[in-house]
Amino acid sequence: MKVGIIGSGGREHTICEILKKSTKIEKIFCFPGNAGTTGIAENVNINLDNFEDLKNFILKNKIDLVVIGPEKPLVDGIVDYLEKFKIKVFGPNKTASQLEGSKIFTKKLCEKFNIPTAKFGIFQNETDAKEFLRNSKFPTVIKADNLASGKGVYICNDINEANIAIEEIFKGKFGEAKNLLIEEFLQGEEMSFFIISDGKSIKNFETAQDHKRVFEGDKGKNTGGMGAYSPSRLITRKLEEKIINKIIKPTLQGLKNLKTEYKGFLYAGLMIVKNEPFLIEYNVRMGDPECQTILPKLETDLAEIFLACCEEKLNTININWLDKKSLCVVLCSKGYPDKFKKNVEIKNLENIKLNKNDYLFHAGTIKKDEKIFASGGRVLNFVSISDDFSTSRNNVLKKLNKLNWSGGFYRNDIGYKVIK
Ligand code: AMP
Ligand code: GLY
Repeated sequence: MKVGIIGSGGREHTICEILKKSTKIEKIFCFPGNAGTTGIAENVNINLDNFEDLKNFILKNKIDLVVIGPEKPLVDGIVDYLEKFKIKVFGPNKTASQLEGSKIFTKKLCEKFNIPTAKFGIFQNETDAKEFLRNSKFPTVIKADNLASGKGVYICNDINEANIAIEEIFKGKFGEAKNLLIEEFLQGEEMSFFIISDGKSIKNFETAQDHKRVFEGDKGKNTGGMGAYSPSRLITRKLEEKIINKIIKPTLQGLKNLKTEYKGFLYAGLMIVKNEPFLIEYNVRMGDPECQTILPKLETDLAEIFLACCEEKLNTININWLDKKSLCVVLCSKGYPDKFKKNVEIKNLENIKLNKNDYLFHAGTIKKDEKIFASGGRVLNFVSISDDFSTSRNNVLKKLNKLNWSGGFYRNDIGYKVIK
């Protein structure tokens, strides 16, 4: 089977690497991929906004199945477009992708189906939003409605911070804003919960905890994710049942009422408050770096899983996992998530020896003349699986130490809540 993977991050290299283990795979194409995927796939540079060029390439090269990594093409309707040409695609359609594309869409769905989430208000202009805040409690949470690469969320400690957030959003910092969301601040512990769906049935796809803040101790700015561990320390059978019954199932029912269904990975960002799950946000894809952290534990053939989803046969397969503790640390370019240098060479990579349970997934890297250069904010993902989080983290940190890349930095404390 020939598979195409859309995306260029750590998530996509991981999918590529894990797919490669399948005997079903004949060839992988990455659109556009990174330095890590060059050895195992053909990297193809096509503008991802140009669905037609992409479709032509897929048809010409007889690609059997296309997997969409990032949210933007999903929200833009790539699945609907490719399916019109009878191409098998793994990922949700444009309507279902509104779960990530519009926070207000999701909040309204929560309201209609009684899905536990933070109390909220929707505001169409600065005056109304500011007026509402005069009688609010702080901290409060203010969010832009549209896709903002994780940056459109403000946790405001006082009225001044809140006013700045409102002004920035309505001035268009995250794209044209017709409205914004003001939300109650939930105090609890976060958890990333994943399922996979073929539109007819669902299966759990593990849990993780990521570290979004840039500095140790979960301080500083939000990033795409500085590291993660899986499973989450919070997950129990009982909590899992609550998440499925109170959050996931009503959401899928909500989509059915809109005459659509959900196919692909669904990632629920949850706040667990006194053992009760609250939905913070949905993502219509795997998390990054959660994907890097979770997939190395997968025992079942990933190609079979994707195929089963596209053929609505997910209920016919079992998804098995290694009972291991996985931990991922992300090596970033110095300066990230603000300004950082590009095209900095990463030497020494060939000296990193990986054991059977260690993984190195590329993110923002490119290969030129057999040399590897950093091209993005998040550059490399080091992952290790073992029987305990402490061993996994030690394995990862030893490799990072050995690489000793002067252009980068990373957090030494990933997983501190599960490691003494
Ligand atoms: P989001 O992009 O919606 O996931 O928000 C980014 C981060 O902001 C989340 O991972 C949480 O840490 C935090 N956050 C968002 N909404 C809330 C809320 N209602 N209460 C507390 N923290 C929140
Ligand atoms: N790690 C968070 C995300 O993928 O959105």
